[in-house]
Amino acid sequence: MAEESRSNRLNGLIWPATAKSDEETGELSIGGLKASELIKEYGTPAFILDESDFRARAKTFRDATHKFFGEDAEVYYASKAFTSVATCKWLAADGVNLDVCTGGELAVALAANFPPNRIEVHGNNKSVAEIEEAIQVGVRFIVADSLIELDRINSIAGRLGKKQAILLRLTPGISAHTHESIATAHEDVKFGFSIASGAAMLAAVTAIKREHLILEGVHCHIGSQIFDDAGFILAIERLIRFIAEVKKTHSVELHHLDFGGGFGIAYTDLDDPMDIHLVLQKIHEALVAQCEKNEISMPTIAIEPGRAIAGPAMVTLYEVGTVKDVVLEDGKTRTYISVDGGMSDNIRPSLYGAEYSALLANRISTAPPTPSRVVGKHCETGDIVIRDIALPSDIVPGDVLAIPATGAYGRSMASNYNHILRPPVIAVSDGVAKTIIRREKISDLLALEEG
Ligand SMILES: Cc1ncc(COP(=O)(O)O)c(C=O)c1O
Repeated sequence: MAEESRSNRLNGLIWPATAKSDEETGELSIGGLKASELIKEYGTPAFILDESDFRARAKTFRDATHKFFGEDAEVYYASKAFTSVATCKWLAADGVNLDVCTGGELAVALAANFPPNRIEVHGNNKSVAEIEEAIQVGVRFIVADSLIELDRINSIAGRLGKKQAILLRLTPGISAHTHESIATAHEDVKFGFSIASGAAMLAAVTAIKREHLILEGVHCHIGSQIFDDAGFILAIERLIRFIAEVKKTHSVELHHLDFGGGFGIAYTDLDDPMDIHLVLQKIHEALVAQCEKNEISMPTIAIEPGRAIAGPAMVTLYEVGTVKDVVLEDGKTRTYISVDGGMSDNIRPSLYGAEYSALLANRISTAPPTPSRVVGKHCETGDIVIRDIALPSDIVPGDVLAIPATGAYGRSMASNYNHILRPPVIAVSDGVAKTIIRREKISDLLALEEG
């Protein structure tokens, strides 16, 4: 209790639920562990994952999905946001299914003994080997993305003496209001079959005719970091109309509808994400109305959140290495704060212009804030972690910066650019920390060298 009263809870939209900043010392703690303890044990940079927060967010999606769409509705966590054997085990235990989009993501799931019949396989260019393995282990769905793939899945299933349940990935022609690289369901994209052009109907007819395919339903994913329910509702309208059209013209009822992920999260205090219950309620209302209007029965519903589960549950801890003031053209000064990671552990600012916030995590500072830029250690001008932020003017080498909401598409998109070692992921819970992905070593890099 005394501990509680001395600590400020941080904005729960951006920070993990257990993150606190000590009022007297200014030190950050997550999962009951101080930043200094974590750094002493695991070094920097490091991803700190709040286990209870990750699991609570996953269960919130599971429960809300059941509440609005019934007990047979399913949540498929999108592995691409972040995956590991440990998180797959948590999801398996917590009744959340898994979406994978490569053989590598499938391998992690299988290493965690994730039940294959709760895995769905995505991807616009699945290899023969990937499809073969998916069918062999018995995944729930393969989401087909092209006519070539329909034939490929059909012939592999035939060769293995199986029938494979599939969904068709459809593009409903919607421009989600998000960055171009993460919008996925307008017409001019590499994903799926366009409804408007007739490609989707051709795919449905093709799939129905293939002996070793069981066409169970349709899928779409309209984009990521979505802050507005309008795109989801329009997608539902178009998908239901498509299902009705297939029923009318081919007497086949597609009984499964997966409307993907994309639920936006807060990265800074300015972001105002949608309340998940409210969005699902609105989507449910739209679904009921559309099913009635098109005279079809309500399909089984699935969703695929990734970012909204992993994103806010993780924080990156960096150590400050150098600090320098740069005089700008207008005579003002900007402080460049260099940390010991950067674009190799978080490509999102360079790739999408993504914004983040930061906290001085090892001590309190009463110094006035000054215009700052947090940059990485890579040989790239674009290696920026936070482009514009006001940080205390007394930050010095050895200080620790914590960047919240780095759980999604941070570690999973990490690279070895400049031969930097990828950081570990440390799960914390109730005062206990455990490594779920270890830090890379120089020997890991050199192990690939055959020259
Ligand atoms: C098919 C599919 N499903 C789910 C997701 C997860 O999206 P998010 O992490 O924004 O929820 C993605 C992300 O790209 C996707 O492509």
